[in-house]
Amino acid sequence: MTIKANRKENYGQYFTSTIVTEFMVKLLIQELKKGHILNNYKITELSVLEPAAGDGSFLKTLIKYGFKDITAIEIDDYSFNRLNKKFKDKIDIINSNFLGSSEKQKYCLIIGNPPYIGQNYASEIFQEYVQKYPICKEFFSGNMDLFYWFIHQAIRKLKPKGLLCFITTNYWIKKGEKTGIAKLKPHIIEECFLKTYVDLSNLKIFKDAPGQHNCIFILQKKNNEEKRNKTDKKIKIIQFKKHSKFQDYNSIFQLADFNYISYDSATTNQSLKKNGSWNLLYPEEVKVIIDKIENTYKNDSGRVLYLKDFFQIRNGIISIKDRVFILKENEDIIRKNGDFFLKIEKDHLKLNELEKNRLKKIYKGRAIRPYGFNEDDYLGWMIFFDKNEFGSNNFDPDKKYPVLMRYLYQFEDELKNTLIKCKESPRNWLFPRRGFKIHNLRNKSGIEYLEPYYENQKKIFFSYISKENVFGFARVPFYATSDTYFLHNDGKTADYLFLIAYLNSKLMKFIFYAKGLEIKRSKSKLENEIPIISYENLKTQEKRDIYKIIRKLSKELITNSSQDLEKIELYKKEIDKLIFNLLDLNEKIIDSLISKYYSK
Ligand SMILES: C[S@@+](CC[C@H](N)C(=O)[O-])C[C@H]1O[C@@H](n2cnc3c(N)ncnc32)[C@H](O)[C@@H]1O
Repeated sequence: MTIKANRKENYGQYFTSTIVTEFMVKLLIQELKKGHILNNYKITELSVLEPAAGDGSFLKTLIKYGFKDITAIEIDDYSFNRLNKKFKDKIDIINSNFLGSSEKQKYCLIIGNPPYIGQNYASEIFQEYVQKYPICKEFFSGNMDLFYWFIHQAIRKLKPKGLLCFITTNYWIKKGEKTGIAKLKPHIIEECFLKTYVDLSNLKIFKDAPGQHNCIFILQKKNNEEKRNKTDKKIKIIQFKKHSKFQDYNSIFQLADFNYISYDSATTNQSLKKNGSWNLLYPEEVKVIIDKIENTYKNDSGRVLYLKDFFQIRNGIISIKDRVFILKENEDIIRKNGDFFLKIEKDHLKLNELEKNRLKKIYKGRAIRPYGFNEDDYLGWMIFFDKNEFGSNNFDPDKKYPVLMRYLYQFEDELKNTLIKCKESPRNWLFPRRGFKIHNLRNKSGIEYLEPYYENQKKIFFSYISKENVFGFARVPFYATSDTYFLHNDGKTADYLFLIAYLNSKLMKFIFYAKGLEIKRSKSKLENEIPIISYENLKTQEKRDIYKIIRKLSKELITNSSQDLEKIELYKKEIDKLIFNLLDLNEKIIDSLISKYYSK
């Protein structure tokens, strides 16, 4: 590994371009002006810390904009020596670990680009830091990132009313429970206001870090009075749009004024959740519509029902080893005149009728279409045994499933070892690992096996990686891998025909955007945040008629689902209109909000 690569891995060395540092320093100065801090102090009097100075790009910009009382910290000797050569007369440069620096030394401003290193990728560094530095011990959380500690330490080192401005990846903003932010968000909320959030997810900021989505944020440390009074403050949002003509990110920043929108978020500091996702890109005019929708949905006791009141979302099936359990057609298995021949060593052995029943066409999320799925786009045939059957007395699998068992015995040791490594019982080596059973949702006790559900019950499902609200439906057999999420009904009557139309509608697309559900949606967010409309809530005959027409069109689409894409589009448009009518919403306004705030 080269020294350069090493620095990236151990120290998270990615340097920030001047365009970005200028943007951040200007943003900070704007915030100082807004908070009237510059009425009482000159820029030259404000102490600034750059805690991860690297090649000094922030330092250069800070000097350019008139800051004089600057301190820089850098852990890496090589970078430190270079900084020393460049800045030693102007700046106090310290060669140490920021996380070990004293909390007593406090600053008015902290600005920088801290190192991003995921805990799962560098667990030794995290262990070492937890042992060495009290701040790391206090705020360690599984699945965290190194820069979280930089935020914790920076908060400690800020003076009351002081400002912290960092550029980081943006994933932590949307993270909820059990995802590494368990210590970070409570600490921020307790000690700071989030004043400004700059969404850079449409821009490519670091050329060497492909696929990374970034953000810039400003936190302001609360003083005692603000803590005592539980003061609330607004969050200013700057949202960069994608600029199709300019590939180079420098040009995008230079053209900033034309390329971003700015507004106060309808989410204020008081409504930030300590242990949940923060929906920051939430303009007031969007909130008005969401409130209107949810008010219409309220039932007689004034409660809005959400997806979770009817369904629990669960992944599809996970096998112990796909290579073994998913048989590829024309490779592992040959189909001829309705018979199956399974390849074992050099022979192709015919499966009996009972064995044929144990092969299930298995799909991936990509096969899902609105209102259905593409029947031809299957991955292979999964060997799916019923665990219940194997538990019964006098059951002899070798007799009932001779060829399948002979095939699987070839892999017995390998499968058992895999289970042992995963701390699961090797006795289960013939069955899927997940997605074949569920705790009984209806009476909350006992286990329900899912084969009948996958075979012939009504089911709604969607793909984890799809960015749009595409929900499939089937009452024919449909088995899918774990990149597909299934909606499991809780027992409460749900109107599938209406629901599938509603979930695939443009209104739902808008709800996804407004509630920040669009990318890598977590299932609990969907369960908790998709409001459900019910027939009983519709007060007038006119609305009830609209509802019925939607159901009719939906039924047409379900029965024609997989093939006729043109018809689907036509009917979907009609359904979209009817759903807007149902809620007295103006489609044009929704369209304009989508294009103003959420066009990609
Ligand atoms: C993402 S780079 C950013 C560098 C510079 N601020 C910039 O924006 O160009 C992070 C820098 O932090 C340094 N670093 C990593 N861990 C550190 C630590 N614990 N204390 C101080 N500096 C650290 C790295 O060596 C690297 O130079």
